[in-house]
Amino acid sequence: MVNIGVLTGGGDCPGLNAVIRAIVRKAQAVGGHRVLGFYDSWDGLLEKRFEELDISKVRGILPKGGTILGTRRGSPFDYDDGVERTKKAFAELALDALVVIGGNGSLTVASMLADDHGLPIIGVPKTIDNDVVGTDATFGFQTAVQIATDAIDRLHTTAESHDRVMVIEVMGRDAGWIALHAGVAGGATAILVPEVPFDIREVAEIVTRRHDRGRYASLVVVAEGAKPKAGTLEISPPKLDKYGREMHGSISQVIAPELSRLTGYESRVVQLGHVQRGGTPNSYDRVLSSRFGLAVVDAIYQRAFGEMVVLKCGQIERVSMQVTRGKTRTIDLDFFNDVAQSFFG
Ligand code: F6P
Repeated sequence: MVNIGVLTGGGDCPGLNAVIRAIVRKAQAVGGHRVLGFYDSWDGLLEKRFEELDISKVRGILPKGGTILGTRRGSPFDYDDGVERTKKAFAELALDALVVIGGNGSLTVASMLADDHGLPIIGVPKTIDNDVVGTDATFGFQTAVQIATDAIDRLHTTAESHDRVMVIEVMGRDAGWIALHAGVAGGATAILVPEVPFDIREVAEIVTRRHDRGRYASLVVVAEGAKPKAGTLEISPPKLDKYGREMHGSISQVIAPELSRLTGYESRVVQLGHVQRGGTPNSYDRVLSSRFGLAVVDAIYQRAFGEMVVLKCGQIERVSMQVTRGKTRTIDLDFFNDVAQSFFG
């Protein structure tokens, strides 16, 4: 019998429970192994707070958003004795492997613990931001894009009724995947992403040209991490949270009044925020999460520690988690230039 630990780290996203369910189903089906689910990310491991997950515990969680285990930011490296305590927890609980389901931050930590400190850890990439290096996709992203697209569709009708400019802010601090895909799907007038600094005057010209053609309503989709070109628009630096991470969520408040000033059209701001992360995963994300969950149990049998399961050209493969260390997978600029920009205006 093998003891498999599981934790979810960083921000939650739709599909986490589907991964947990698949791990439990596969681990029990192939060998009656024990699965220990740690509460509240690394805190649960360090404090040995967990529950044993069997089929009855994961029944019905496939369509459930969030994570039944709870999640936190932070890691063992936040404490002077964190690595020692992690090793102690592995020994005391006789853990043969730990599955870390996380984004760039959690996978970087997992990689360091696996490769630099010799712990048997395997990763599963998650995040609505779709910005993990090494995989073609993370689960949670498609659900978030659908939520944002539905919101844009709804905003079209109210914006048209009032001949307004709607500035819709979506998540994406370092990469504009959600803005790009929801913007194209929702027929955005312009899309602003962190990868391509924008000039507010150019955005205003696009909006003005559109209204001059007799169109009512403009929808500008902005990723929270979008940045103006130097010297074009004053924005205050983001505040930091208790982990020293930048807290976004105000760029649209600056862009909207400036667009009104430059175009003469009334504007309104809609910040979708955590609505994008909540609720049930769509079918694509349920399937991807389930495939990742099954594959990570195979990875444990093959002792592929230090690696993570990924999606490559439709197939589930594995790569070293080292590729995630301090990195962000940014958008495909050709897609932004050739596809998204073709529909601006
Ligand atoms: O999950 C990643 C993310 O969605 C980012 O796009 C966003 O900036 C961040 O989470 C906000 O998360 P929290 O409010 O939980 O810190």
